[in-house]
Amino acid sequence: MTTTIALVTGANKGIGLETARQLAARGVTVLAGARDAARGREAERALRADGADARCVSLDVTDAASVQAAADWIEQEYGRLDILVNNAAIAVGGGPPSATDLGAMREVYETNVFGVIMVTNAMLPLLRRAPAARIVNMSSEVGSITPMTDPASPLSKMPAGLAYPSSKTALNMITALYARELRDTAVKVNAANPGYTKTDLNGNTGFRSAAEGAEPVVHLATLADDSPSGILWGYLWSPEAPQAPYGPLPW
Ligand SMILES: NC(=O)c1ccc[n+]([C@@H]2O[C@H](COP(=O)([O-])OP(=O)(O)OC[C@H]3O[C@@H](n4cnc5c(N)ncnc54)[C@H](OP(=O)(O)O)[C@@H]3O)[C@@H](O)[C@H]2O)c1
Repeated sequence: MTTTIALVTGANKGIGLETARQLAARGVTVLAGARDAARGREAERALRADGADARCVSLDVTDAASVQAAADWIEQEYGRLDILVNNAAIAVGGGPPSATDLGAMREVYETNVFGVIMVTNAMLPLLRRAPAARIVNMSSEVGSITPMTDPASPLSKMPAGLAYPSSKTALNMITALYARELRDTAVKVNAANPGYTKTDLNGNTGFRSAAEGAEPVVHLATLADDSPSGILWGYLWSPEAPQAPYGPLPW
């Protein structure tokens, strides 16, 4: 049986590390991307201690040379890539839209938007060689315009700066357009919503564990061939059903 090879960006902690762990538990060989080599090695050690077939790879999603070097290394080592999880992201800048710090907003877009495009385009030749490749873009319900503007939704009450939510809205369209371009291929491209998860990204204020946050990501990364491409799917946070199951979210 051939091994499935997955690359997870920003896999040294949080939901990315848990995604790597859960994919590995399904027998997937996991390449744990980390922008800091020491943090990457630590993640590799932790994953291997749990029995994972894991290797760290240096990957700063904002650095073209780093992204290309990672793609070249994967090509040399494996010749293809089955799963790409674009997980790395930052959340800086806050306050109302009228007080937007454009510097912070550019920084967020470099990682959360341009970084995803750069990594995806560098990995696509390898993904096209896989029999049934899956790309999962880590989005968020705060990038979903419908609940963010629906007064009945808890999301409409969350304080939100422009940078992070709009970066995820952009990522949603990016997901939809990659899925459209690749619809006649074996590559599926979907966006995941992990739900409000306790990680460093939000000062550990989330109400879901990182392991729970990784569940919808792993689901989309391992979709069967007759599954959809070009959807936003994951945790459904509704006041009526706080423990609602997973499902598709509106863009
Ligand atoms: N937590 C939530 O409630 C929540 C909700 C919805 C969506 N998400 C999404 O879930 C994903 C994971 O977030 P998280 O909550 O697990 O956050 P996290 O714990 O802060 O982890 C973020 C990861 O991204 C990495 N990263 C940041 N910039 C990078 C870069 N330029 N190159 C490579 N790696 C970089 C970080 O590396 P360092 O350790 O080096 O900083 C870290 O490994 C993100 O896409 C986030 O937007 C999270």
